Amino acid sequence: MNGGKKPGEKRKLPGKRSAELLKLRNKYVPKAVFQVAPVFIDRGKGAIIEDVDGNEYIDFVGGICVLNAGQSNEFVISAIKEQLDKHLHADHNVTMYEVYMRLAEKLTKITPGNYQKQVLFSNSGAEGIENAVKIARRYTGRHGLICFEGAFHGRTAMTMGLTSQVRNYKYGFGPFDPGIYRFPFAYAYRAPFGLSADEYGEYCVAKIEESFKSYIASDEVAAIILEPIPGEGGYMVPPKNFIQGLRRICDKNGILLIDDEIQVGMGRTGKMWSIENYNVTPDIMVIAKSLGGGIPIAATVAKKEYMDAVPLSGLGGTFNGNPVSCAAALKVLEYYEKENLLQKAAKFGKMAMDRLEKMKGKYPVIGDVRGIGCAIGLEVVKDHKTKEPDAQMTSIILKECHEHGLIIMSCGAYHNIIRFMFPLVIKEDELRMGFDILENALKAQQK
Ligand SMILES: Cc1ncc(COP(=O)(O)O)c(C=O)c1O
Repeated sequence: MNGGKKPGEKRKLPGKRSAELLKLRNKYVPKAVFQVAPVFIDRGKGAIIEDVDGNEYIDFVGGICVLNAGQSNEFVISAIKEQLDKHLHADHNVTMYEVYMRLAEKLTKITPGNYQKQVLFSNSGAEGIENAVKIARRYTGRHGLICFEGAFHGRTAMTMGLTSQVRNYKYGFGPFDPGIYRFPFAYAYRAPFGLSADEYGEYCVAKIEESFKSYIASDEVAAIILEPIPGEGGYMVPPKNFIQGLRRICDKNGILLIDDEIQVGMGRTGKMWSIENYNVTPDIMVIAKSLGGGIPIAATVAKKEYMDAVPLSGLGGTFNGNPVSCAAALKVLEYYEKENLLQKAAKFGKMAMDRLEKMKGKYPVIGDVRGIGCAIGLEVVKDHKTKEPDAQMTSIILKECHEHGLIIMSCGAYHNIIRFMFPLVIKEDELRMGFDILENALKAQQK
């Protein structure tokens, strides 16, 4: 530590050195690239960050769900260093290397589906989704894609079309892929017509079935693509009948179910994949973010039969399955087993939910708290009855948290949902302290 502030202590943001760097940021980096806090990290360990001014923070963001295994995990770094000493890049299209196959083999074993699978690596979540769509379209020979309100699948030309939030991510960038059809997601807290969660789940499934008469014929639909628990959309936990209903529609109509596990997968819910909470097996799964422990990598996992439908050179890319990324990911997965991260997610999730439920009873701005394991969203509203989202209050609370040493961020189309993405290696006292800072920020707004 450099004489800066500890979590809980108020600090001025940006600090002196951060303010200097901010000038460079504003000069050389497009304003379109959003920033959560005016903080520049110098170093980090586990769930603790130190900024360039020597201030410490508890990290409730984890690089947006990338650091489930913790910041600068030594176990993972050792594998990265070992690989660095061997070779940095080969391009698997040119000369192949073992770590690529070992990771592919491992992922086929730990993803749902008792059949022969194959794995395609890429560099980002969006690229992983693009590949899933290519595979689904080629296998089915159909063009239609069904996606949902509240979805986030990326920022590339194709995935931007699948993403839901208009203003932030899509406005002025269209037109988008013409095969995309969007439907309501079973967002229980905001179910219309006074429907219960289950009734809304049923309604949303029925809406898709009806659409085969009025929007697109079922035999023109290649895939339904969803995040079982939408991350950017607001950590909404849908009822079981919604996800199971989608599976039924897919089975009945020869449609593939693409499961985007990029944000909420990798153990966050206490199960390795969020869809496992619904006893549903997807046809194609896309994994990224925490898979590489901080090194970019995405994986598209599918039945071999689907992969086989794509002809030679139809899939790939220069950096796909970079050896350093593969080495890191293999070690991340080993670390999950060694440290029982799934159990930790369930335990920390319970601690977090208990604490948040208590806060909900005390602070009227909290409209809803929901989640499974450590995949949790807290909705800030102006009024419990109208449920009117309160983006302004959310941003005041977050700023107060940042200034007291808690890195935390919001999500949702109305920017009123606080999401919790702390590393699953967080220590109990750090978790408690993080929630103390959040509670103090809520308390400060009561006066
Ligand atoms: C659910 C989900 N899908 C896809 C993406 C896109 O991933 P990337 O930013 O790595 O392209 C994200 C990123 O936040 C995501 O949360």
